[in-house]
Amino acid sequence: MNAGALSLSQTPPLWAPLRFFLTAPLFLMAAGLTLMFAPDGLFTTRWSPAMLALTHMLTLGFLGMCMVGAVQQLVPVLAGARLPWPEGFSRVLYGLWTPGTVLLVAGMGWGWRIGLQSGGALLALAILLFVTVCGHALWRSGSRHETIPAMALALLALLGSAALVIWLLWRSGWQVPLAHPMTRLHIGWASLVWITGLIMGVAYQVVPMFQLTSPYPGWLRRALVPLLVLLLSLWSLWPSAWLSLLLAATLAAFGLWTLRLQQHRRRRIPDTTLDFWRVAMGSLLLAVLAWVVWLYRPDARVEVLIGVLFLAGFATAAVNGMLYKIVPFLIWLHLTNRRGSQAGLPNMRQIIPESHARRQWWLYLASLVLLSLTVMLSLPPWPAGLAWAASGMYLFWNLWGGVRKYRAYRG
Ligand code: HEM
Repeated sequence: MNAGALSLSQTPPLWAPLRFFLTAPLFLMAAGLTLMFAPDGLFTTRWSPAMLALTHMLTLGFLGMCMVGAVQQLVPVLAGARLPWPEGFSRVLYGLWTPGTVLLVAGMGWGWRIGLQSGGALLALAILLFVTVCGHALWRSGSRHETIPAMALALLALLGSAALVIWLLWRSGWQVPLAHPMTRLHIGWASLVWITGLIMGVAYQVVPMFQLTSPYPGWLRRALVPLLVLLLSLWSLWPSAWLSLLLAATLAAFGLWTLRLQQHRRRRIPDTTLDFWRVAMGSLLLAVLAWVVWLYRPDARVEVLIGVLFLAGFATAAVNGMLYKIVPFLIWLHLTNRRGSQAGLPNMRQIIPESHARRQWWLYLASLVLLSLTVMLSLPPWPAGLAWAASGMYLFWNLWGGVRKYRAYRG
């Protein structure tokens, strides 16, 4: 592993990112349980209260928690820019984000206005604080790596898309669904720049480092996220099939290039993170294909399938896979720093054993396939829900196992 480009001395306290990583799978479990008890026919429309609640358990609960945790780790380590008061910052953020997400999701699911208002307010504060502090640190960073502008654009997209939808909620008297034409901007910017832009920026660093591939070519690293932003800006002003196709092609280029790098990687040891990323890229390509089909033959079921493949497939698999590298790496790093040497410490593969991660990968794969089949064939949602709940629980258990190792070795 080449960690030479990292400023490891800047690493924040262990629990600053870890509290987010450990809470995230609980939202995955909650989404699974909700799905288990959801009515049949849930997926016939995108706009039911249960669908909105489920979407945000995933986007704010699982993906958001992991991404907010990862950015707190990556800004100091990749950009070399220390965040002020990292432990306190993380606690405040966590104290706003977690109840904010729970309240917002409850508000969406039950049409509960106070939940929407209080959840929206807490999340607005969390996002404003997070983007201001991390954005300021990135601004001051001397690093020239393409990950820095990608992260900065992702942060701005999060802020913009959240501000827009909160404003729409306020204007509608805090009722969902909003069914407002501008909702597409919330979905577009949050999904394509906050989520995908950040995954791209992070991939430039972590795919070569952890999956032992060649680097992404410089032109691709420089072009991809700014191109997404340019196309999405044009699409926001003038939505058209052509711009959608160009956006789809940009996403496909990332998926295909990543698969190509993985195919030609230097060392061919089986690795669960690599397989999570293969599923992620495969799902991204299928989501792109479904999107192109939908552009010419709009269909409510295919529309839901695009969301499933993109959020529960691409984004969730990429993030779940990275957790199996980031968490053991952080635990190993903090143990080494504490002890002053690596002697007698477990290596990364012993902190979370590969066999446990592999079992969770199978569970995850089963839940993704079941969910896609449930949407397409109108199956009852409980089997998919059960699989998601089990996958989330197993992920939590594996990460918690890493924490137990840390406690056993920290001395
Ligand atoms: C402050 C945080 C957020 C709030 C208050 C919020 C609120 C909302 C609301 C009210 C809707 C329903 C729109 C409508 O009825 O027309 C919605 C839809 C959606 N939001 Fe968010 N959202 C937030 C963050 C996010 C994030 C970070 C993502 C990440 C991708 C996201 C993804 C989506 C998606 C995909 C939909 C469409 C859901 C569907 O098709 O069923 N949201 N959001």
